[in-house]
Amino acid sequence: MRLAVTGATGFVGGAVCRAAVAAGWQVTAFGRRATADAGRLAGAAYRSWDIGAAKLADPPAVDAVVHCAASATDTGVAREVWRTNLLGTHHVLASFPGRRIVHVSSGSVYDPFRPTVCAKEHEAPVERYLNAYAAAKAAAEQLVLAIARDAVVLRPHAVYGAGDTTLLPRLLENVRFGRLLVPGTGKVLVSMTHVDSLARACLLAATAGPAWPSVFNIADRAPVTVDWALRGLLASAGVPVRPAYVPAWLLSPPARAFPRGRLNRYVISQFAVERTLDLTAAIERLGFEPAPTAFPPP
Ligand SMILES: NC(=O)c1ccc[n+]([C@@H]2O[C@H](COP(=O)([O-])OP(=O)(O)OC[C@H]3O[C@@H](n4cnc5c(N)ncnc54)[C@H](OP(=O)(O)O)[C@@H]3O)[C@@H](O)[C@H]2O)c1
Repeated sequence: MRLAVTGATGFVGGAVCRAAVAAGWQVTAFGRRATADAGRLAGAAYRSWDIGAAKLADPPAVDAVVHCAASATDTGVAREVWRTNLLGTHHVLASFPGRRIVHVSSGSVYDPFRPTVCAKEHEAPVERYLNAYAAAKAAAEQLVLAIARDAVVLRPHAVYGAGDTTLLPRLLENVRFGRLLVPGTGKVLVSMTHVDSLARACLLAATAGPAWPSVFNIADRAPVTVDWALRGLLASAGVPVRPAYVPAWLLSPPARAFPRGRLNRYVISQFAVERTLDLTAAIERLGFEPAPTAFPPP
């Protein structure tokens, strides 16, 4: 199997790259930076490519592409987020016409204005989003499904594990006076996704027979409470901090009683209400075997 991985210098793409090399696949790894740490890529060939700039002039011959590259930020400059996440996806599709495209999307495409309760894949996209990241991820999915003849879209939620560049660093930005300020009560449920599980799902999606509709939620076997997830994440990182829950209304203008930090409307929407995904389609049609959440109950 010959595989191209975009975003291979990142958290998810690196895990996909290592899993594919371990499976004996021939992997070409793409990232934006000029050079990459060979160890993180398990020895895969590396090429630098800014996907927002243009399609590849000389793409390698591959059987499938796992597209992980993205501006994965909830506070980024909208123009850059759209350039990478939508225009960049267009360039990826144009570089590998006719190839299986595994598009790593996000649970952020579900409706941010109401709880996501065992969401099924048909419940997204929606009309309105809270930031450019979610809107661009939803638009990119639609582009992939409209243009690629052979595409699988995966929607993980809250990816965690060794090498996390996104979830844990964002949480740590909200630490004040030794406590992690979190909107809500901590008692609502959330679907978490271990990065190794997501990498396995990407490899399955790269080789699965054609399936329609080909959009799949990906997560750990069962949801956990936000409090369980946060304590587990902080403990696994060795951070001696505990969550402190703040009513969501205290964090929204005009009542804002805490420093702004990263507790924007998007963050509030992710922690104060349920965000759980139905995995039936991935289990039954992709052969995905979800693993339990990796950290023990608090
Ligand atoms: N982490 C999560 O919790 C989570 C949850 C749901 C979905 N996802 C999705 O998973 C995917 C990977 O996220 P991640 O957490 O691994 O993010 P990450 O660690 O920030 O990695 C992002 C990757 O995209 C590359 N990239 C960014 N802009 C680029 C550009 N213009 N051209 C080419 N490459 C570019 C980066 O390359 P350089 O580092 O070389 O610049 C890096 O390899 C994203 O599609 C994200 O939406 C992540």
